[in-house]
Amino acid sequence: RSVRAIAFSSSANLGAGYDILSMAHMAFSDTVYAEIVSRGERKVIIESESALPVDPDRNAAGAPAKAVLSEFGLDYVIKIRVIKGIPFGLGLGSSGASAVASVAALNKLLDLNLSLEDIVRFAVLGEKAVSGSPHPDNVAASTFGGVVAVTSHNPIKVSKIPVNLDFRVALVIPRVNTGEGKTKKARELVPQMIEISKMVENSRYLSSFILGLTQGNRELVKYGLNDSIVEKSREPMYPHYPKIREIALKHDAVGVCVSGAGPTTLLLYDNKTDLESIKREVSHTCEQFGFICQLVSTEIGGGVRVE
Ligand code: HSE
Repeated sequence: RSVRAIAFSSSANLGAGYDILSMAHMAFSDTVYAEIVSRGERKVIIESESALPVDPDRNAAGAPAKAVLSEFGLDYVIKIRVIKGIPFGLGLGSSGASAVASVAALNKLLDLNLSLEDIVRFAVLGEKAVSGSPHPDNVAASTFGGVVAVTSHNPIKVSKIPVNLDFRVALVIPRVNTGEGKTKKARELVPQMIEISKMVENSRYLSSFILGLTQGNRELVKYGLNDSIVEKSREPMYPHYPKIREIALKHDAVGVCVSGAGPTTLLLYDNKTDLESIKREVSHTCEQFGFICQLVSTEIGGGVRVE
């Protein structure tokens, strides 16, 4: 018997919510098939047509699968087939979605009765395998769906943020090859120490964004999607971003921020937004920076599905 799980792409951080906030979107998804090959030995075999490493310890779907088997003391050989629909290295939660789909598929296959928070707890090990850090934001969004806040790290606790504002989602995706270790590099750029005034500024953004979503206040969402610390420190990795942001706000986007560790930009828009002009000007800007950008419009995504 083979179990199939599907997890959606996501945009982490959402302005000032570094490692806390994230939003799932329907734009892309990863599919994982899990099956028991044999019993008596504990092993995870990864199959994938993508260019990603199939060594389970370096694979986003492999590392959490090994952790699941070892936590439950299960001596099985498990085959995990990963079908990548989410482009990787572009800030779209690609590794997170593979990790989530892998754990969710095993949960069903092996009847483990894991809660959604348990799925997140295992899935962060996939992030760790790929980027060296077990950040929970992307995996939380791909697990729960919607817009989420990780409110505790140990133990992992996740809350869904009620969205009471009408908007759609667009992703400005540079078609570039960021190479392996992009997230690791991006995390090394984040300062270890910040001034209190910056902390206050970012806390203002974070609270405004969450209040804006729950109260349905467009202005608060726009103001809240800002970040003076992490986005700023990483700007050398996405020099095109300030210009894209400027274009989006000029044409009245609901909000704009870097998607995860970039280089994709997340744009929220509604019927006041002139998306056509944004599309035109953004693709021109990307060309000036020497690459092609794809603008994908989509909506907020659901949580992981298992069949
Ligand atoms: N919060 C993480 C970061 C997301 O910005 O490094 C990476 O996908």
